[in-house]
Amino acid sequence: MPVDGLDEAQARAELARLAALLDQANRAYYQDDAPEISDADYDSLRQRNAAIEARFPHLMRPDSPSRQIGAAPASGFGKIRHSRRMMSLANAFDPEDVAEFVTGIRRFLGLGGEAALAFTAEPKIDGLSLSLRYEDGYLIHAATRGDGETGEDVTANARAIKDIPQSIADAPELLEVRGEVFMSHEDFAALNAAQAAIGGKTFANPRNAAAGSLRQLDATITAARPLRFFAYSWGSLSQPLAPTQMQALARLRDFGFPINPDTKLCHSTDQMLAHYAMIEARRASLGYDIDGVVYKLDDLALQDRLGQRSTTPRWAIAHKFPAERAWTQLQAIEIQVGRTGALSPVARLAPVTVGGVVVTNATLHNEDYIAGRDSRGQPIREGRDIRVGDWVEIYRAGDVIPKIRDVDPARRPEDAQPYAFPETCPECGSPAIRDPGDSVRRCTGGLICPAQAVERLKHFVSRAAFDIEGLGAKQVESFWRDGWIKTPQDIFTLRDRFGPGQPRQLKNREGWGEKSAQNLFVAIEERRRIPLARFIFALGIRHVGEVSAAMLAGHYGDWQGFRAAMRDAQDPDSPAYAELLSIDGVGAVMAASVLAAFSAESAEIDALADMLTILPAEKPASDSAVAGKIVVFTGTLEKMTRAEAKARAEALGAKVAGSVSGKTDLLVAGPGAGSKARKAAELGVKVIDEDGWLALIGAG
Ligand code: IVH
Repeated sequence: MPVDGLDEAQARAELARLAALLDQANRAYYQDDAPEISDADYDSLRQRNAAIEARFPHLMRPDSPSRQIGAAPASGFGKIRHSRRMMSLANAFDPEDVAEFVTGIRRFLGLGGEAALAFTAEPKIDGLSLSLRYEDGYLIHAATRGDGETGEDVTANARAIKDIPQSIADAPELLEVRGEVFMSHEDFAALNAAQAAIGGKTFANPRNAAAGSLRQLDATITAARPLRFFAYSWGSLSQPLAPTQMQALARLRDFGFPINPDTKLCHSTDQMLAHYAMIEARRASLGYDIDGVVYKLDDLALQDRLGQRSTTPRWAIAHKFPAERAWTQLQAIEIQVGRTGALSPVARLAPVTVGGVVVTNATLHNEDYIAGRDSRGQPIREGRDIRVGDWVEIYRAGDVIPKIRDVDPARRPEDAQPYAFPETCPECGSPAIRDPGDSVRRCTGGLICPAQAVERLKHFVSRAAFDIEGLGAKQVESFWRDGWIKTPQDIFTLRDRFGPGQPRQLKNREGWGEKSAQNLFVAIEERRRIPLARFIFALGIRHVGEVSAAMLAGHYGDWQGFRAAMRDAQDPDSPAYAELLSIDGVGAVMAASVLAAFSAESAEIDALADMLTILPAEKPASDSAVAGKIVVFTGTLEKMTRAEAKARAEALGAKVAGSVSGKTDLLVAGPGAGSKARKAAELGVKVIDEDGWLALIGAG
């Protein structure tokens, strides 16, 4: 009903309904990181609430959504750059994955099945990770994981946690201890009861309670919350802790850190799986949440040899407990349009609790998935399609967006119709087409499509892109709706248009004030200087994620070089095109997508670049003689496997190529080298043997 048609009683009831809905949405968004309604729906609920309050000011509730500002913004904390990246873990879901993890390590290291390998196995705590830096034995700062490279400075809060020593006797000069902050079931229940008693906010689960308690701008609140800590890893050290993981943990325990008592040294895959089964059986009685078991190779020298992929170490894996499941009814299928125009079907569900969290939506992936086929046309769920009204089985496998596992045809309503996937964009009406071989249908409206435009802006300001403090998805949507920001360039003219002295000013906008407006303008100015990799990523080019953007930036070095190359490479017969394709990780699909972006939007991209200072890519962080060099391995390597050689070369900043060309700097040739060695000789490429290589990288 329109707001002006409401009488007082209806308005009161409606305000109560909106307060409950918005509270639920806030929790899902801020506490669970799992939004249940779209940002647009959220805003329209808030607007309706504000409009009713404007008509009936005396009905404004004490808990009115307009009095609330959501959770403490992440931007309230300073940032700390981790001296060594905080890694996450690859996952294993069954015993085969674990066996493959172990054999993969043997293969990488070139070890036979008979060589002994030991692994630690310990519970995977469902909390949040924290890095603690001690210098000369004193805690000097504490940081959350953040994006792995930069976290939030929560030093004052960490000092308030009893399990964390403030100072350590006989510590090495530099010691970074990493571990998990969590809350026990008992403390969680008591906290929620106490919060409920004072009408304060309660938490959906212990992990959210721990996160909410640690990330308090007022550390006295953290001090009053019963947070606990288990140490399980470390960052930079002035000297090694020990030769093995198990002994390193023992040293951390001697320094005063709690170590999980269920950590066990295992000597075979069977022992690892037996320990997993033991921990799983005791899961409910541990008194805190865990979501799996982490296995780590015990020998730290071998860990070093294995190294890491971009975000996960090769020497550890998380063996997750099976996903939590529940059945519920599918109420509607909604289509969301993403920044690249992808039409994503989302299931709206009757609320159901899965593993302690209320779920009201789930991803349906794409139209084939709904129809009961995989991307190759093979049946999934034995070919059963999913229809509105169906009973569906939901699961959550640790990730935030729940998925649909199955559908029950026996409970299908008689009138349920097969779902007709839209062939036009629900946001802009443009045709939505599916390219051959693509499982996704896409809106062809480009930037005409409001959904694509706004999603691209959200991507532009996201954490791995411009990361502008105070300008998140919500603010972008609201500015977009009012026409204040329609393109990335508009962000950088915001102050000229809505700053001091202008007829309409940001500080007078709802939800803003003098200080926050000023802060936003400062934050925007700070981001006029942006590293090349972030800039490329921010453009939101399809197929170009963070890692590819960093590769492109690393290859071309600076904006001018990259821009010129993208101009030249538009010609598929040009050397520039061949060069683009020669970059490790760039295939024809990504190349086409990058070139298309630079052909269709070159004017906008250039106009944007002109407003910014794009910083050249950092040189490889290594001073090794092979940094930046293109290396090819051939023949038999005798001291390490090819995989290890490649990983170590890359870790030192070299690029490893598969074939010899004029660009190759070095060929490492073992016995049996053939055509590649001949080609290298022809092209005058330097050739060395394995010992020469080891000497060059300082491992000889
Ligand atoms: S080891 C380089 N051990 O799980 C190794 N992580 O999914 C880094 N976690 O980010 C992690 N319990 O926050 C490790 N016993 C444990 C853990 C654990 C919980 C968390 C940690 C990590 C995440 C990866």
